[in-house]
Amino acid sequence: MKAKYGIGILIAVAAMTHVAMATTVRPIVIAHRGASGYLPEHTLEAYALAYAMGADYIEQDVVLTKDKHFVCSHDIHLESTTDVEQQFPDRKRKDGRWYAADFTLAEIKQLNVHERLSNRFPVGKAQFRVPTFEEAIELVQGLNKTTGRTVGIYPELKAPLFHKKQGLPMEEAFLEVLSRYGYTKATDPIFVQCFEMPTLKKLRSEFHSSLRTIQLLSDSPIQARMMTQEGLEKIAKYANGIGPNKVSVETNPDLVTWAHQYGLEVHPYTFRRDAVPKKYHQFDEELAQFFTTYKVDGLFTDFADLAANFLRTQDVGLAKK
Ligand code: G3P
Ligand code: CA
Repeated sequence: MKAKYGIGILIAVAAMTHVAMATTVRPIVIAHRGASGYLPEHTLEAYALAYAMGADYIEQDVVLTKDKHFVCSHDIHLESTTDVEQQFPDRKRKDGRWYAADFTLAEIKQLNVHERLSNRFPVGKAQFRVPTFEEAIELVQGLNKTTGRTVGIYPELKAPLFHKKQGLPMEEAFLEVLSRYGYTKATDPIFVQCFEMPTLKKLRSEFHSSLRTIQLLSDSPIQARMMTQEGLEKIAKYANGIGPNKVSVETNPDLVTWAHQYGLEVHPYTFRRDAVPKKYHQFDEELAQFFTTYKVDGLFTDFADLAANFLRTQDVGLAKK
């Protein structure tokens, strides 16, 4: 009898453990523009370092060149992170800016990439180039092969409406690139993000994409209206999650609960060790607030190593939806 009872307990414990293992999932670390706290953003070097630091997903912001190649750049303009002004002084538009959409891929490949922020990697040291989106994918997939890990990509379509006006529609061409590299299903290691709702809707309704999508949300008045329960219910009809500015979560932590109620993941941006808000004493405290208290499903950070280390040492898990 005693023995039976013991076995029963063991079975119960094993079952509970199994349930616990099956129903918790670790939040993800998204390397924002690569390991951009350490190397110039959106370079193959920054992506490789983020991979080595333990990121789960590596972010690529993508824009189109004049000859319809996707390249990785946070901005539709080139002057904040390259030497385009020096190399092509006459190619600025009337607004004084150099647009990637006005340059061929061959021209963009001549540019030297430099750090955006003055407190980070020194400008003029070492040489970096603008990668194509394909090169970024091949790097991640190559490392997945050599390491045996499955790190995902997290591309953001930048300003699709602007691109359309330039005669450079993005959506179909973007899905074609992804399909060529094997990203076609909801279970593939990719999230597609965009601030523009029509693009995310179009991916589903017009191009029948099954890829997971994230509606990015800024704190503009229009987008703030999407962070209500009604707004989230609408988002859940065409996306798998939201990517809010982190301040929106701090202002209204219920946002995470509401989003989860509609089956949406929450991946706020952007967490930086060198720009920790004053209310937190150190970076780990900010990470704890979001991972442990607010229970976000992942976050964008320039310091993937620190977020990955936090999750490893704090044993953070979320209830699986
Ligand atoms: O895509 C998430 C986050 O990167 C949004 O902000 O301006 O860095 O693209 P941004
Ligand atoms: Ca982005």
